[in-house]
Amino acid sequence: MLKPGDTIGILGGGQLARMIAMAAAPLGLKAHVFAPKGDNPAFEVSGHFTEANYDDFPALSAFSEAVSVITYEFENVPAETAAFLDSRKPVLPNPKALETTQDRLVEKTFIRSLGLSCPDFIAVNSLEDLKAAVSSLGTPSILKTRRFGYDGKGQARIADEASISSAWDDIGHAPAILEAYVPFSREISVVAARSQSGDVKAFEPCENEHRHHILSRTLLPAAITPRTGWAAIEAAERIGAALAYVGVFAVEFFVVGSGDDETLLVNEIAPRVHNSGHWTIDGAETSQFEQHVRAIAGWPLGSTKRRGKIEMINLIGDDVENWPDLVAEPGLKLHLYGKREARPGRKMGHATRVTPEKDT
Ligand SMILES: Nc1ncnc2c1ncn2[C@@H]1O[C@H](COP(=O)(O)OP(=O)(O)O)[C@@H](O)[C@H]1O
Ligand SMILES: [Mg+2]
Repeated sequence: MLKPGDTIGILGGGQLARMIAMAAAPLGLKAHVFAPKGDNPAFEVSGHFTEANYDDFPALSAFSEAVSVITYEFENVPAETAAFLDSRKPVLPNPKALETTQDRLVEKTFIRSLGLSCPDFIAVNSLEDLKAAVSSLGTPSILKTRRFGYDGKGQARIADEASISSAWDDIGHAPAILEAYVPFSREISVVAARSQSGDVKAFEPCENEHRHHILSRTLLPAAITPRTGWAAIEAAERIGAALAYVGVFAVEFFVVGSGDDETLLVNEIAPRVHNSGHWTIDGAETSQFEQHVRAIAGWPLGSTKRRGKIEMINLIGDDVENWPDLVAEPGLKLHLYGKREARPGRKMGHATRVTPEKDT
């Protein structure tokens, strides 16, 4: 169990690391961020940082000496880096969670092994595989690289048989899966934490709207039946336990149908704090970032109670230029990530509106 004054090591220097470091401070914990050279907004809010590559083993060794526990803000931590660090200080969530969620084929096979449903998928390693997979799953379908995809990157939609080879070219002939297109009624996610003693606390499922495959808005309460909500939380609990997980994670779902006919398919698991949990900073009794720090520190989890009706808006690219209006809106909570350049598709910040429910 960590004590106030101890240091949490964080791999990755983006906004998630920044918000973890910011959540550690009020608990009296220090943060040491490790990230390669680049725009690392997390460096600005942590007392200690190392700018080095993930295969710089002397730098990783010195980093491990300086911290009590190591966590990460992204699932693509190289396996050798995670193993090297884990032999020196606890890496939480454990490297097995990384291994399972880094690869969409391994991830979906794992989801099915727990008796949970996910979209139909077929492994694809060649153009011939892809043609066979399309004739089996039909169109539209979605080709996704097994590794390194995020915010819709590494994905190509196959609208008809004529677009098969261009889709294969689009993903650079990388090992992939073909996924059946899901005509979902909505997308939801469960952000949950599992403590070192195996206690699980989930935030209420939230509803997510994507634009160009990037999260655009998160809303609570989600327009789903209570039964669907409980099933989503139960699925997250099962996933957390099977991975012997410690920390915060998110499970994204497709909801198909509506009302009594609603069914759930697991889309993906994120072994980290998640964009759809940003509302918890202002809208829940404990933020997902504090919850993550509590879990990896070996502390008890906090209350996940929601404070009202929630709207979280992502500020993507140029959206951030609207900050003067946002900061002037009474009650709106603005979070800017301190990134230097507002490139298209880049997450620059978010804004949260919490409306007390008695007023709605
Ligand atoms: N099989 C599918 N059917 C319909 N929409 C999909 C499917 N897979 C992905 N999408 C859409 O694309 C978004 C991003 O895909 P996802 O697999 O979550 O990848 P990532 O978030 O890693 O980029 C999803 O949230 C959803 O809106
Ligand atoms: Mg996703």
